[in-house]
Amino acid sequence: MKVAVTDYIEDNLDWEAQEMAKAGLEFATFQLKFKPEAEVVALLKDADVIVVNMVKMTPSLLAQLPNCKLLIRHGIGYDNVDVAACKANGICFAYQPDYCADDVAEHAIALIFALVRKVVESRKTLEASSASGQWDFSRLFPLYRMDGKTLGILGVGRIGSRVARKLQSFGLRILGCDPYLSAARKAELGIEFVDQDTLFRQSDYLTVHTLLTPETKHIVNATSLAKMKQTAVLVNTSRGPMVDCDALAEALKRGVIAGAAIDVFDVEPPPPSLPLFALPNCILTPHTGWASVESGWHIRKSIVDDILRHHRGEPAKFIVSK
Ligand SMILES: NC(=O)c1ccc[n+]([C@@H]2O[C@H](COP(=O)([O-])OP(=O)(O)OC[C@H]3O[C@@H](n4cnc5c(N)ncnc54)[C@H](O)[C@@H]3O)[C@@H](O)[C@H]2O)c1
Repeated sequence: MKVAVTDYIEDNLDWEAQEMAKAGLEFATFQLKFKPEAEVVALLKDADVIVVNMVKMTPSLLAQLPNCKLLIRHGIGYDNVDVAACKANGICFAYQPDYCADDVAEHAIALIFALVRKVVESRKTLEASSASGQWDFSRLFPLYRMDGKTLGILGVGRIGSRVARKLQSFGLRILGCDPYLSAARKAELGIEFVDQDTLFRQSDYLTVHTLLTPETKHIVNATSLAKMKQTAVLVNTSRGPMVDCDALAEALKRGVIAGAAIDVFDVEPPPPSLPLFALPNCILTPHTGWASVESGWHIRKSIVDDILRHHRGEPAKFIVSK
């Protein structure tokens, strides 16, 4: 069995090569991101299993891979893979949706704490006080205690449910909103489920973890922001288009809500003209929710595991299309 990697972001795939060699599999790695289709086909046409990161797996390319039985996307999103064409060509398509769920949950929690304790502003207060030789907390206060406040989680899937679990000992009332969860799953999570309107109105901290769909695009907009408490803060680590950033900037400027922290943007990286850059009550991070040494190894091991499962005649762990 031949395994080919179309492109990769790791420094090298020596570990994967060793694992493949142990299993007696041929292994080839390429960097084909911007290469012409003919070159990509020539290098991949014998492969039985293909691992893809960013190369566009178009219908035309997929139709020219007669040996390929399994395609694995290195990551969660798969905009670059034509799933219908995988199906039409008898290629099973798998992905890795859970490799960074803990990391994104931890990032969202870090942003909630940073907003609540005004960590970024605190540094500025310290610097200003240090320069003037006397404490001046005017830009920092009021600070509020977290214990007893209400956390709202919009989208309680892999990441949202981890946020709930990890924050369960902080004395918070935890609300979830997710119309697609079964009653059994809701009961298992042990948090209170409410409708979207209630979530926006009652949350002191609202964290967004939905999937991007036509229904969730701009789910945070001028109307939903207007429902929130003036002291509330918003965190978005899901996808940029979930939040109408112009409406958010307006809300932060006018004090409709107290603060926000954003990890994901409509355009990435965002242009310097992004209004949120100018707002002191907005924390911005460079789409690094997923990032950790552990998540990097998690995805590498999961992909190797999928390849070995396929070799044993077992299905990959997370299949998008058979
Ligand atoms: N910042 C990062 O680095 C990073 C990394 C990984 C994933 N993400 C993003 O995080 C988000 C969550 O990922 P996940 O793995 O938890 O996905 P998931 O599929 O496990 O969970 C998403 C949940 O959203 C729910 N949902 C869908 N529509 C909804 C709606 N209208 N209202 C409320 N809930 C709704 C679904 O029922 C599901 O339970 C995704 O948008 C993903 O792209 C970000």
